[in-house]
Amino acid sequence: MSDIILPIDLQNHRYDVMIGIDILARAGEFIKPFTPRNRSFIVTDETVARLHLSTLKEALAKVDVQAEVLILPSGEATKNITQLEKILSKLIDAKIERTDAIIAFGGGVIGDITGFAAAILRRGTHFIQIPTTLLAQVDSSVGGKTAINMTQGKNLIGAFHQPALVLADITLLGTLPPRELRAGYAEILKYGLINDPGFFKWCVENGADILASDKNAQRYGVAQSVAAKAAIVAQDPTETNGTRALLNLGHTFGHALEAELGYSDRLLHGEAVSIGMMLAFDFSVQCGFCSVNDAHKLRAHLTELSMPTDFRTLTNADGATLVAHMMQDKKRQSGTLPFLLARGIGQTYLDKNVDLEKITAFLNGEHP
Ligand SMILES: NC(=O)c1ccc[n+]([C@@H]2O[C@H](COP(=O)([O-])OP(=O)(O)OC[C@H]3O[C@@H](n4cnc5c(N)ncnc54)[C@H](O)[C@@H]3O)[C@@H](O)[C@H]2O)c1
Ligand SMILES: [Zn+2]
Repeated sequence: MSDIILPIDLQNHRYDVMIGIDILARAGEFIKPFTPRNRSFIVTDETVARLHLSTLKEALAKVDVQAEVLILPSGEATKNITQLEKILSKLIDAKIERTDAIIAFGGGVIGDITGFAAAILRRGTHFIQIPTTLLAQVDSSVGGKTAINMTQGKNLIGAFHQPALVLADITLLGTLPPRELRAGYAEILKYGLINDPGFFKWCVENGADILASDKNAQRYGVAQSVAAKAAIVAQDPTETNGTRALLNLGHTFGHALEAELGYSDRLLHGEAVSIGMMLAFDFSVQCGFCSVNDAHKLRAHLTELSMPTDFRTLTNADGATLVAHMMQDKKRQSGTLPFLLARGIGQTYLDKNVDLEKITAFLNGEHP
């Protein structure tokens, strides 16, 4: 099965995303052109290191690229300023220069913090993403957003820094826990819901295969998602004209739930997005923008795949509490918030002024 190569064309930067089977074992040949001094520095987490680091090291050794390694603890808590300082200090000790390759080898956590370190080391150093979770392959490794968390909130410190190359090896998804696979699938489905009803239909027919680790289905789903994200990012690389906001379908509701649950393991980001997208469709139906039939189709698909659709099983928080989280997120006092709503499947749009009282009543289960 051949690799899929998707060129990402931004105004002043171009890079390739390669998607395929067993790419990691062949990574040396792809990385070599990005290491003029044959030097690389791998940042990874404990879980990924245990499962897959030896394959990457062998691949680099085969092409005589030197690789130093820093292994960080697994999990969201790693995305902090202390670990950032550790990465930067190890990179400086290792005398990594601007044209050497810093390799982010892991999920979104490793991609975000390593990308940010690369963005600020010597005012910008080359970095390569090897995303190892489904979420990172379809979302966080593409688009150039990098960040760390602060105690005050998630992703508060960051930069736009585009990778020089992204290698998405479908084989790595084989070791991912089913729950993480499902969480990543929510972001795949999102692209169909945003603007591609044909892709939504494909998801309905093939989503179960993605979750059952069918490599063909995963390869196609990842490639379509990357292409969809790239098309949106190309129109709005630094989030200035509003197009990129479409990628946040389900995320305003989702973030409120994540905040309410303290960003804990009780609710993964992708699970929050799954519930959030369902809420966005249900709210759109209640407002009379979207047909009940389309919301039914979405609920039926999510339910068939055991994806979460209902926040009531997780928290008793009322509408006002969840809306307070949304206002905090968007730095608003009261009144209205911009929301991504749907006119139907594949017809997401940004409504700039949604009345928060209406959202509160909706979340409380009140019908107008
Ligand atoms: N930059 C962006 O545009 C963007 C977009 C979406 C999300 N994000 C960020 O991404 C992060 C979430 O990413 P994530 O869901 O990949 O989380 P993660 O990096 O924490 O990975 C999830 C878990 O899976 C493990 N893991 C990784 N690869 C594995 C593999 N192949 N086999 C077995 N286990 C594996 C990890 O060790 C971790 O425990 C969040 O911090 C979020 O803010 C960033
Ligand atoms: Zn997301």
